[in-house]
Amino acid sequence: MGTILMPFNLTVQPRDFDLFQGARRIVRRLSDMRGLYTDKEAMERLLAVDDPIIYEFWEVEYEGSDRGLSFGITRIYPGKVGREYHMTRGHFHTTDGDEVYVVMEGQGLLLLQTKEGEAGTIEMIPGHMCYVPARWAHRTVNIGEHDLVFLSIWPPHIEHDYRTVAQSGFAQMVVEGTDGSMVTTNPSFSGA
Ligand SMILES: [Fe+2]
Repeated sequence: MGTILMPFNLTVQPRDFDLFQGARRIVRRLSDMRGLYTDKEAMERLLAVDDPIIYEFWEVEYEGSDRGLSFGITRIYPGKVGREYHMTRGHFHTTDGDEVYVVMEGQGLLLLQTKEGEAGTIEMIPGHMCYVPARWAHRTVNIGEHDLVFLSIWPPHIEHDYRTVAQSGFAQMVVEGTDGSMVTTNPSFSGA
């Protein structure tokens, strides 16, 4: 898509992104998440019955441009695979470029980590803005009982690296504890 030349506004709601010219809707089902959840047996048990949508996002991306800002809205549906909450696949940015999230609905956690072995967690509740510096991989997790919905904005030249996370996993994972969600070390993590 080319750079928008005219000013515009847009309601930050999936139904309005659906209608917005140039927006692309991407759906991630449970089967798209194979290998990302620690409990492989729980994953196969669930897949034997159904292949639900875990999350979907609508994006308007100005690929290959050094102008404009790309933006998108993500909706993660509530639920768990085993004890692990529904989450996005997560990625690194392969080129320098930061990202901002603005939380609209729901309750979540943003997992962050660098290739140098740093890891962090940021709370996501409506009204929060989360700032993700370029070298931090990011994955969002829905820890609530309702949809987690957030707006994201990033520079148009960013390339996304999903493979590193798919191969190594995240250092931390978010699971259901005795009293709500808790962040634990991911036993499947094989990165730095
Ligand atoms: Fe990103």
